[in-house]
Amino acid sequence: MTDSPAASNAESHTAGPGLPEDLKTGHTAVCGLQYGDEGKGQIIDMLSQEGFDFVVRYNGGANAGHSVHIGDEKFALHLLPSGILSPAIVNVVGNGVVMDPQGILKEIDGLTERGVVIKDNLRISERTHVVLPYHKKQDELYDRAVSAARGDAHAIGTTGRGIGPCYADKALRSTAIRVCDLMLPADRLREKLRYIVRVKNAVLTSLASLCGAEFEPFDADALTDEFLVYADRLRPFVCDASSMLRDQMAQGKRVLFEGANATLLDIDHGTYPFVTSSTCTALGVYAGAGVPGGVLEHVLGIVKLYTSRVGGGPFPTELSGDIADQIRDVGREYGTTTGRPRRVGWLDLVATRYTAAVSGVTGLACTGLSVLSGLDEMKVCVGYKHNGQTITTMPADADVIAEVQPVFETFEGIGEPVSEIRSYAKLPAAAKRYVEFVESFVGVPIRMVCVGRRRDQILHR
Ligand code: IMO
Ligand code: MG
Repeated sequence: MTDSPAASNAESHTAGPGLPEDLKTGHTAVCGLQYGDEGKGQIIDMLSQEGFDFVVRYNGGANAGHSVHIGDEKFALHLLPSGILSPAIVNVVGNGVVMDPQGILKEIDGLTERGVVIKDNLRISERTHVVLPYHKKQDELYDRAVSAARGDAHAIGTTGRGIGPCYADKALRSTAIRVCDLMLPADRLREKLRYIVRVKNAVLTSLASLCGAEFEPFDADALTDEFLVYADRLRPFVCDASSMLRDQMAQGKRVLFEGANATLLDIDHGTYPFVTSSTCTALGVYAGAGVPGGVLEHVLGIVKLYTSRVGGGPFPTELSGDIADQIRDVGREYGTTTGRPRRVGWLDLVATRYTAAVSGVTGLACTGLSVLSGLDEMKVCVGYKHNGQTITTMPADADVIAEVQPVFETFEGIGEPVSEIRSYAKLPAAAKRYVEFVESFVGVPIRMVCVGRRRDQILHR
């Protein structure tokens, strides 16, 4: 037994009464059904205690901020999978992730200081793409250069973690660095970075001049020296992760796939162009982990019972004023990754029904009920009006999504705190009416309702 706080907490704060038997078999994916920050980390951490052998991140990068609350301790994870606090789980950074070596090492060091053991329980795919400092610089300059070229403000409002530029290099191919490149002998890596940095410096100099920003060119040799140090530290974790997973799955091991970001931020199915650059839905599991199609038995969609969004882009049910302030304060809606205050609004069921369908969600897990419980009334969006027409599906065009008028259904307030309640049956009638309306509108059973962020505050149905 380890003496890590995570491990000891795992024993004293186990999940609320029993996960239903059917969720204890098969491979499962967990995906966010809104604009991120739905509470995926809490559900993945809980499921990690339920007989899974692996937790695999298959998309995104350090733009994700997955929080795990164990007792009074909070762990904010960005690149490490959310099974890392469960000693029996092997955590895998899949090939579909874009990994910042410095970032993941900082997370490893931070957790190690807190007594979490990270050794054989972490695996990194040799096919994973690597985020370099010039990707972060490009992230910073790109919105500004585009705004300058357009003559008006244009902001996707990225997290600045180099995500888009790294995925762009993946698609461009000749300037990409993967984990297997980091593992090359020093002179081979140096050779590669020399020509890549020449190209990057040329691109970044042009972007900077377009928007009048300062730009200090990168030095390929200094960068190589820095990254060789990271490479040495990461080497013990690197493997052919997809082959390993296929073998282990063939031997009957269970895998939990952790989606980062969320469906409305998905590169294909989100509110494009105000999205991230990866496949955040369950569709991304196969390509991003390298496992054969059809292996998923369960797809759990995580829905916060109100909505939050960070960064630019349309948000039909967005609130301002006192109710927004109350939801933001009580829900602590400030970015785990960037600290930015999140935009908040009512639950959008038109969007949720769409996002659940995209991933083929088999069950919902709802978070945020304790934040709603202090409000006098609650609203959910059940349709959009646009140019006098009612729309019940998700428009493709972000400008149309920004123009729609939400049609709301209003529910009476819950009227009492819910955070100490430990069974679904004991929730106040108003809470159940609200939750069950969500279930019937989306057409997918609600399997879990969270009344707080800790492991013991997940109520199973
Ligand atoms: P988790 O996993 C919330 C948003 C950013 C920005 C847009 C593009 O914690 O739910 P990027 O840096 O990815 O190019 O930014 O996407 N975004 C998220 N918002 N939670 C996330 O992840 C997010 N990942 C990306 O704010 O608007
Ligand atoms: Mg986040």
